[in-house]
Amino acid sequence: MKEICQSVFWTESVSDVVEHCFDLTGEAPIVLVDESTHDHCWPLFNQSGQFTKADLIEIPQGEESKSLEIAEQVWSALTNLHVNRSTWVINLGGGVVTDLGGFISSTFKRGVNFINIPTTLLSMVDASVGGKTGINFGGFKNHIGVFSLPHSVCICPEFLTTLPEEHIRNGFAEMLKHGLIGSEDHWNNLQKLPTTLEGVSDYISSSVQIKADIVERDFRDSGERMKLNFGHSVGHAIEAVGMGQEEHVLHGYAVAAGMVIETRLCALKGLISDEQAKDIEAVILQYFEVSNLLSISVEELLPYIWQDKKNTDHMNFTLLSQIGTGLVNQEVTAEELAQIIA
Ligand code: GLY
Repeated sequence: MKEICQSVFWTESVSDVVEHCFDLTGEAPIVLVDESTHDHCWPLFNQSGQFTKADLIEIPQGEESKSLEIAEQVWSALTNLHVNRSTWVINLGGGVVTDLGGFISSTFKRGVNFINIPTTLLSMVDASVGGKTGINFGGFKNHIGVFSLPHSVCICPEFLTTLPEEHIRNGFAEMLKHGLIGSEDHWNNLQKLPTTLEGVSDYISSSVQIKADIVERDFRDSGERMKLNFGHSVGHAIEAVGMGQEEHVLHGYAVAAGMVIETRLCALKGLISDEQAKDIEAVILQYFEVSNLLSISVEELLPYIWQDKKNTDHMNFTLLSQIGTGLVNQEVTAEELAQIIA
C-alpha cells in the first residue's frame, strides 16, 4: 500500500487492505457495517477468511443512523462484547459508517483504536479522511461530535465496483470542490471526465491529497480547513430541509447546489467576475440536475444556515477569490442571500 499522506493509504487491491488491517488488529476486530456494506463489501474484505472471528455490528443504511439512538445501540453492543482499549474497530462503509463509527470508537471508554475503510467515493475523498466524527442532532447535521483521527484510512477503489453512477457523482461533487478551493489544475482535469469509476479513479488520490494537506495545517478547523466547507453553508441547509422528506437528498447533490449558490455569491460580492461564476456553474450543472434544490426558498434555508458552525454573530461563508483559491470567513447577509436564492 502506498501512503499518500499521513496515515492515509492507497491500493488497487483489497488483499493489501486486509493484510494491513490484520497486522494491526489480529483476527478478531469489531467490524461496523451497514446493511449494504454487509452484503457487498464484507464478503470482499473477508474473502480469504482472515476475519472469521471478527464481531460484526450492523446498523441500518442511511443518514438516519447518524443518531444518538443508533450510537447508544452500538455502545451497548460494544459493552456486551466486552470491548476494551486493546480492541480495534474497523469502520467498513460510507460516510455514515465512518462518521458514526469514528464517534463511537473515540468516545467508548474514552477511545479505542479505529480504522476507516471507505466504501463510497464520497467517504474516500472526504468523510473518512481528516478525523471529523459525529452524529446529527435536533435536525442539524453533524451537530455533536469530536475531532479524532483514525489510526489508518485504507482507500481501495475495488470497493466501488458495485456503486451506481449516482453515488459516483455524489462523491464527485466533493472532488470538484477540492479543485475550486485548492487547485486549478485539479479543477481543469475533472471538467471533462465521465462520472464512472474508470473516469474518476485516477483523480481520487489527488483529491484526498488536497484535503489532507489542508487538514494537516489546520486539524481543528479554526482557519484554513474551513475552505473545505465551500458549498456546505447552503448545502447542509438544503440537506436539513430535505431530512424530513420522503426522499433523502444525497450530500453531493446538496453540495453541488450549494456550490452553485455560493459561486453566485462570490460574483455578487465582486470576488470573481460574472463570467467566471457562469463557467463554474455550467461545469457543476453539467453533472448535477439540481433545479429542485435551487428552488428551495431562502426563508426555508435561513434557519439552518444560521446554525452553521462557521458562523459567529453573523453568517460566515467560505467563498472563492479565483478558481483554486478558497477564502474563509466571508461575511454574508440574509439580504445578499435573498438576492441570489429564489
Ligand atoms: N468535510 C470537511 C472537513 O473535513 O473539514
